[in-house]
Amino acid sequence: MVVTVFGLGFVGLTTAVGFADKGMTVYGVDVDKNRIDILKDGRIPFHEPGLKEALERNLGKHFFLQEDTETVVAESDCVYYCVGTPYGKGGEADLTYLYRALDTTLAACNDDKYRVLVTKSTIPPSTTAEKIIPYIEAKGYLVGRQIGVANNPEFLREGSCWEDFIHADRIVMGVSDERTKQVLMELYAGFDIPKFCVSLNTGEFIKYLSNTLLATMISYANEMAQLADTIGGIDIAQAFRILHMDKRWGGSSMSSYVYPGCGYGGYCLPKDTNAIYAMGKEKGMDAQILKNVIAVNEARSDYMAMRIEEVMEIGGCIGILGLSFKPGSDDVRDTPAAKVISRLVADGYTNIVAYDPLAMEAFEQHYHLPIVYMVSVEEVLERAEKVVILTAWKEFADIATRTEKAIIDCRYML
Ligand SMILES: NC(=O)c1ccc[n+]([C@@H]2O[C@H](COP(=O)([O-])OP(=O)(O)OC[C@H]3O[C@@H](n4cnc5c(N)ncnc54)[C@H](O)[C@@H]3O)[C@@H](O)[C@H]2O)c1
Repeated sequence: MVVTVFGLGFVGLTTAVGFADKGMTVYGVDVDKNRIDILKDGRIPFHEPGLKEALERNLGKHFFLQEDTETVVAESDCVYYCVGTPYGKGGEADLTYLYRALDTTLAACNDDKYRVLVTKSTIPPSTTAEKIIPYIEAKGYLVGRQIGVANNPEFLREGSCWEDFIHADRIVMGVSDERTKQVLMELYAGFDIPKFCVSLNTGEFIKYLSNTLLATMISYANEMAQLADTIGGIDIAQAFRILHMDKRWGGSSMSSYVYPGCGYGGYCLPKDTNAIYAMGKEKGMDAQILKNVIAVNEARSDYMAMRIEEVMEIGGCIGILGLSFKPGSDDVRDTPAAKVISRLVADGYTNIVAYDPLAMEAFEQHYHLPIVYMVSVEEVLERAEKVVILTAWKEFADIATRTEKAIIDCRYML
């Protein structure tokens, strides 16, 4: 089976190398030439354990980086779309990158070979049926006859992309016809993982069910933590840790989402929660829980900034520990650290030093905030008057034993 993958980010690169590792011939395509050059060199453009080794095993053997999209699409049985689906103007999913990749694909489909076009990017329920299929048909192709269309949502977590893809808990395929289903079942034949072929809308919905539940648990924990602060006399970290001892959690790592922090961030939860809320409104429902999950999350970074400002004089040096949206990752997209720091800067707190084990370069490039980057935790501890933890990296866990200075633990990790 020959597969072309459009978009070689966290999801696309993992998918491409994952299929290649299972013996398929995979062509990888990305509009970012710099990213292609890094990959051609056998390097990975972000931090993902296990992925570099998998790339090295497959590059030039089963996995090929291609600029000539026309030839590779023509040769492919399946074309995967793993491009970004960022926030649109009203919070909805912006499908621009997806349509562009579809245009490139369709321009190369000039014969009568049956190809299946699969969206792995996260797209709101009804997108395949109401937008993608009409888009393809408007260009003169008969879906289900000349071209198969499906969605195949991805559930991997950044920081464990490779492991989560290769040993996924479930494979969900939203399909509309039998032939497409057969092609996808053959594609995943080498994966000993429960597989579910569902309707197009169900496939898309399951992904949002998953992400909005995580977002809801985080906002719930953050609201409860703020309520505890308001009442007073409550050890918040202790209360949540004891909550997790309930046998009904069964020791599940899911409990880590029911724990307070600076608010959910990263590429997926913020945009996906907004997108499904926007989709609900478009279809005539104002989803109340989602609305408040979003509102609680938006207010959380301001609340954390306020906690810092309460104990800091303007002009004093604030030492930030942690910039990535979560430990184990160098991703800074929608990271709460940027929101908290931006708020501090807007309020006149411009004497800020910061350290993150992996994400400083990405943060500096992405946000252009007036902060001074330190080379180590020790340097932050030396320079700062007060220390603020914004990402729960393990290496910050013993910070209280390394300094006498006050620590504002926005992750409740100490
Ligand atoms: N990051 C995650 O943890 C995760 C998990 C599950 C699902 N998703 C979803 O998967 C999708 C991709 O996420 P990501 O984090 O991998 O994004 P990413 O930004 O890391 O990668 C997207 C890539 O697509 C490329 N691209 C854009 N337009 C293109 C085009 N027309 N042709 C070829 N390449 C193109 C970009 O240059 C970029 O390299 C999103 O819809 C996201 O919501 C992400």
